[in-house]
Amino acid sequence: MKRFPENFLWGTATSAHQVEGNNINSDVWAEEYSDGSPYADKSGDAVDHYRLYREDIKLMAELGLKVYRFSIEWARIEPEAGYYSKSEIEHYKDVLKVCYDNGIIPMVTMHHFTSPRWLMRFGGWSNPQTADRFAKYCEVVFKELGSLIPYALTMNEVNLPVMLHELFVNFNFKPPVGIEAKTWTAPEWRQSAARSCGAAIDKYFTFHMASDEAAINIIKDAHRKAKEVIKRISPDTKVGLTLALPDVQSIEGGEALADKVWLKYFRQYLDAIKEDDFIGIQNYTREVYGPNGQVPLAEETEVTECGYEYYPEGLAGVIRKVAGELNIPIIVTENGIATQNDERRVEFIKRAVEGVYFCIADGIDVQGYLYWSTFDNFEWTFGYNMHFGVIGVDRLTQKRIVKDSARFLGNLAQNNGLQDYN
Ligand code: BGC
Repeated sequence: MKRFPENFLWGTATSAHQVEGNNINSDVWAEEYSDGSPYADKSGDAVDHYRLYREDIKLMAELGLKVYRFSIEWARIEPEAGYYSKSEIEHYKDVLKVCYDNGIIPMVTMHHFTSPRWLMRFGGWSNPQTADRFAKYCEVVFKELGSLIPYALTMNEVNLPVMLHELFVNFNFKPPVGIEAKTWTAPEWRQSAARSCGAAIDKYFTFHMASDEAAINIIKDAHRKAKEVIKRISPDTKVGLTLALPDVQSIEGGEALADKVWLKYFRQYLDAIKEDDFIGIQNYTREVYGPNGQVPLAEETEVTECGYEYYPEGLAGVIRKVAGELNIPIIVTENGIATQNDERRVEFIKRAVEGVYFCIADGIDVQGYLYWSTFDNFEWTFGYNMHFGVIGVDRLTQKRIVKDSARFLGNLAQNNGLQDYN
């Protein structure tokens, strides 16, 4: 048995927009309904987690899971600028209480891609004041709920906009979240989304567009300010953020390029995160660079539903790279695979977790592993066609269908270790 450190955080993760349903006051909802929208589906009721969270959290506990990472939806708490909904705060208070009633440790993300529609009227993530508005929302939430939140992530994948931009520019890649290559130069459907947010098109600037230097600085500022506020109100809450980090590798001649990519994805954020209590790492695959750019996948390569290379070893690769440059604890806040073949998912988790084990054995402070995702859910522009969950959902009846991978993960959590399987 490969044993993990005591109190290792085993669990799964979701985000509000992807599971709750009816998140009607957010910019992504507006995008789903825009003319010419690139979203394959509308999120609609999603998996109705807003209503079914009690049963869902109980199920997680029955499976043996110990941690649940979810997000609080800014657009619910503050549906209009400056108005904070007490009843929505009560909702999340109850979600937190239900976690404790079931012996589950909550980890809360304050911003997971979606922002309130009204924020677009103020220029969204291109307006420096957004940092203050975001911190204010965090203040309101933490005054009420701070004592119930042991782990907080200010924002999810602050580097994703940069990654998406790189991928369009270099590889004509169609990214999974609310953006398509065309829109960087011709934002047609965005005009309609902007209209429905009541924003002028030149003000419409969602989180996923924050890839230029000015916007990156606003995001960093938002993180710093939110962290400050959270720490002031709730000093015991551990605070960090998450980064999307493919394992960036090189073959001969690609070293300099790989290093440049790593600088964009990771190193340029270091100044804002190096004093955090921990960093959340999210890994799904690797990117390999050669002298002529990213090396395309060979035809026989096994890929996931998202088209990513099946490469569970990427997680350990990233942990080692991060630990080489940043001296704070690491929590794997997302790692997973979109597939309908649950045996391949179990194998993915095994190999990824084994990699984590060896990182810890080598002295790296990794404190948790959260699989993405708890449920098959709304995968942004891909809609409901991707199957990341360890729990399936029949969306007609909203019935939960436990997969073997959920039991596998639950057993890992209960044993706090991985059976030797080779
Ligand atoms: C995001 C999730 C998303 C997942 C799978 C991460 O980028 O945080 O919201 O569903 O990857 O694509």
